Amino acid sequence: MLSYRHAYHAGNTADVLKHIVLLALLEHMRSKDKGFKYIDTHAGAGAYSLHSEFAEKTAEWQRGIGRHLSGEAQHPLMQALVAAVHTSEQATVYPGSPKLAAGALRRQDSGACYELHSTDAKLLANNLRSQAAIKLYQSDGLAGLLSQLPTPTRRALVLIDPSYELKTDYQDIPKTVHKALRKMESAVIAVWYPVVDRSLSNQMVKALTAGLSQRVDCFELGERADSEGYGMTSSGLLVINSPWGLAQTMGDLLPQLATEHSLDGELHHRCETLIAR
Ligand SMILES: C[S@@+](CC[C@H](N)C(=O)[O-])C[C@H]1O[C@@H](n2cnc3c(N)ncnc32)[C@H](O)[C@@H]1O
Repeated sequence: MLSYRHAYHAGNTADVLKHIVLLALLEHMRSKDKGFKYIDTHAGAGAYSLHSEFAEKTAEWQRGIGRHLSGEAQHPLMQALVAAVHTSEQATVYPGSPKLAAGALRRQDSGACYELHSTDAKLLANNLRSQAAIKLYQSDGLAGLLSQLPTPTRRALVLIDPSYELKTDYQDIPKTVHKALRKMESAVIAVWYPVVDRSLSNQMVKALTAGLSQRVDCFELGERADSEGYGMTSSGLLVINSPWGLAQTMGDLLPQLATEHSLDGELHHRCETLIAR
């Protein structure tokens, strides 16, 4: 039985990193006319009120997207993320990954989103109700990913964003990614990981990249230095088949974000090409 609810964490610093990279990847996919399929293996609820009892309980979004909502003159990717936050007198609603993707899909594109939690699956269906091009599944996203590949147009963008509630995720995700790349070597795959225990995230990154010939970039943003006492201090995204130019873009943006998001006065970011092509 899964208990993780993303509503507690939506809009936090980890989401800011994940979602600006996602927006950059969606922009890259849109740079060619040929349609692509967006596959979200762990979709969540699709949209989150920042004034819900969940959001208020942790207030994580205030240290995340909250730092950017009233500012101006930001990087274009930050501007795009802030523009996707729906603000009205009644509510501020932060977009989840399926909603960001829905906003980017063209007529020739399609999507498949997987969410196991029954409550979040219902919320997702409601939040994406006008998006006929995106099919929703209340089933395991890793198995779902393998069933989707190869996609008809041989263009796919995959987001793998688990909660790591199950420790087996750290082994299952690299295995699934390798199987997915055997089915479609050109798939662009972004894998999010938390840095709670640095040795665990390093092991997963190592397993994910082992034997790959595709370009792989790694982006991290943290609030504090690695530590055993603070829970998640940083998080990262590993991008396989990372588009040309993304590392440069993130290399420019991450130092600024690290300054804005640091809680200990030090800068915590990483922008590294792990496999160059
Ligand atoms: C971190 S949240 C996703 C957030 C979302 N990707 C976003 O950026 O807005 C992870 C979600 O995965 C769901 N989940 C956990 N295991 C799953 C599985 N095996 N297949 C599909 N969804 C799963 C959880 O219920 C949770 O809603």
